[in-house]
Amino acid sequence: MGTRYLFLIIVYLTFFSACKSVADPYTIYEKEDFSPASDDPWKAHPIKTLSPEFKKQLYETNRTHYLNEDEFHEAINMNTEMSAEKHKIKKIGNFNFRTTLRIGSGDEGNVYLAQHIPSGVYAAIKMTTVYGEAENDLEYLALKNLERLYGCYVENTTMSLCMPLITGRNVLPYTSYPSQERVKTLLGVTLTEEKEIIYNNWNLNVHLMQTFLDEFEYCSRKGTCSDGAPQNILVTEDSQIVFVDQTACTPTPPEARIIHESLTFFHYFLGLAPFRKKERKRFELREDIKFPPPVREFNKIVVNAMNASEPIYTLAQVKETFSKFKIDMESYFLGLPHSQIQLGSGDTQSISSSSSS
Ligand SMILES: Nc1ncnc2c1ncn2[C@@H]1O[C@H](COP(=O)(O)OP(=O)(O)O)[C@@H](O)[C@H]1O
Ligand SMILES: [Mg+2]
Repeated sequence: MGTRYLFLIIVYLTFFSACKSVADPYTIYEKEDFSPASDDPWKAHPIKTLSPEFKKQLYETNRTHYLNEDEFHEAINMNTEMSAEKHKIKKIGNFNFRTTLRIGSGDEGNVYLAQHIPSGVYAAIKMTTVYGEAENDLEYLALKNLERLYGCYVENTTMSLCMPLITGRNVLPYTSYPSQERVKTLLGVTLTEEKEIIYNNWNLNVHLMQTFLDEFEYCSRKGTCSDGAPQNILVTEDSQIVFVDQTACTPTPPEARIIHESLTFFHYFLGLAPFRKKERKRFELREDIKFPPPVREFNKIVVNAMNASEPIYTLAQVKETFSKFKIDMESYFLGLPHSQIQLGSGDTQSISSSSSS
């Protein structure tokens, strides 16, 4: 009799604890120190205050949930409980968030504004479905490798990734293809009626390209890969490029030629895709658009890279070409004599626009 009761108790306890371990959220990872890695080119995180511009953007995304801006502003501070039932605080680990404060969304799930309870540091919390072991999830590993992960929690099949908040927007509005030519104002680029590209502030475009390259290099070195989709490339409020939605992959050594992919996305910051898709040769340089000469030379290299059947440039070559491009831009816009990018053949062979076709 006693043994039978004991057996039932054991069965009950085993069943109960099994259910509990599935239903309870559990912590996969928690970062103690929120400062970025010493070699992270994106230095701006963590942040505790949101700019009026970022709040406005957030309000535009979520305005249907709020009666007015005051109610929205009250909701942004997540370390106080709001009375409205629909703006209720939810808690994951040490983070508060509200489902009525969404930052963005994609194919995998939603990203919400969150706030770290003890410190008040703002974060972004991405909720996605986890398949298999959370510890092996490629997105989780990517964020951890980059030291851009504040916390990771799993409940049933939902994984919540708490990461530094990027206050900015993605580069989707800056990607313009020949079929949808339009005047761009956000990056200070204008396409005139004479099909001439004018940069209002060429320094900004060059700076964005530089931070793009820095981010690309950092991510490659840390073993993370992104798909290059403009939705996953963000421009911060202080004009830095940060990639989101990455997966862990094999770190790319600087001498690997795969790094040349970075070239093919530079045009996001130059105002207009400098190529057309052709049937046989995959891409053709657009000769009808008048880019400033240094950009034209750079575009030749980009299109050349895109047409190569396999990666042809190393990081060292991309970097060297880019620094020549910067010097040429400066010389051109300041009216100094300038060389062309394909000049120069030091120890590291520079990228020549006719090296492969
Ligand atoms: N850390 C972040 N800070 C600010 N916005 C972010 C952050 N992570 C993602 N986002 C925004 O949320 C969108 C969706 O996130 P993403 O990771 O790309 O999800 P999905 O895998 O579903 O595409 C992004 O395009 C971006 O606009
Ligand atoms: Mg995405």
